[in-house]
Amino acid sequence: MSSRIEQSPWRSSPEQLTLLRGVVHLWRIRLDVTGQVTQLQGVLSADELTRMNRYRYSRDRDRFAVCRGALRNVLGRYLDKKAEEVEFLYGPHGKPFIAGNRGEFPLEFNISHSSNYALMGFMLDRAIGVDVELMRADLDIESVSLVSMSSTERNDILSRSGQDRVDTFYRYWTCKEAYLKMRGVGMTLDPRSFSMSLAGPQLVQAPVCDRNFEVWSSSWVDVEPDFRGAFVCEGNLPSSCEFYDFQL
Ligand SMILES: CC(C)(COP(=O)(O)OP(=O)(O)OC[C@H]1O[C@@H](n2cnc3c(N)ncnc32)[C@H](O)[C@@H]1OP(=O)(O)O)[C@@H](O)C(=O)NCCC(=O)NCCS
Repeated sequence: MSSRIEQSPWRSSPEQLTLLRGVVHLWRIRLDVTGQVTQLQGVLSADELTRMNRYRYSRDRDRFAVCRGALRNVLGRYLDKKAEEVEFLYGPHGKPFIAGNRGEFPLEFNISHSSNYALMGFMLDRAIGVDVELMRADLDIESVSLVSMSSTERNDILSRSGQDRVDTFYRYWTCKEAYLKMRGVGMTLDPRSFSMSLAGPQLVQAPVCDRNFEVWSSSWVDVEPDFRGAFVCEGNLPSSCEFYDFQL
């Protein structure tokens, strides 16, 4: 099912973070915060530092450090651990999970970044995928839709014009990518092979997979005026959603 959750303003997180079952927590991170790079870089693991140093430009190294450091910081708060003690495992197509996450209601998360923003999503015991994209008004939507959308989605997008076309493209795109990330398959599953609906309950014709993801929900999110976000989670639409701005 796809519909819109009620969006409240992004706000500072409370001192005591409580994540209840059936609720989603979304976090927005500004990646260009030069004053925090050193501190956030300090919690990265050796393999993350290696990844960071593969970026050619310092702006990209800094964004990586802030993104991973913020993720570790927030995971540490949920798990009551130090940020540097959080350990990750990776699925067959690169989806990160928390190592040793075996509680009754394990914490699930996902993260996405685009330009100078990142979006993180957290739920208990339900797979989640998130996506954020900088909306580019100059994107050749007709060509990109040919390689990324089903024919139903493409017809809907191309029947619109101007800003409405751009908005509709990015709503589909972020929901589709979040769906692929919830499943952990990413682009190994052809995004043209399934259709999403942006209005009301929907039947998604997506190939089945090992885990039972038959019931799932999606909603798009306003991250910033130029940034479209979305999350998709296993099961029905969450009962509520909290919107937090990351701050050290
Ligand atoms: C998942 C995927 C669509 C993400 O694309 P992207 O343009 O990097 O998009 P985003 O910014 O939204 O997401 C990046 C984050 O998603 C997470 N991620 C990576 N692979 C993932 C997957 N298969 N499923 C869910 N999340 C994934 C990571 O946290 C990553 O952040 P990081 O690069 O800082 O570690 C893309 O990486 C993909 O298709 N991967 C599968 C293809 C594959 O098997 N690649 C080989 C990697 S082992």
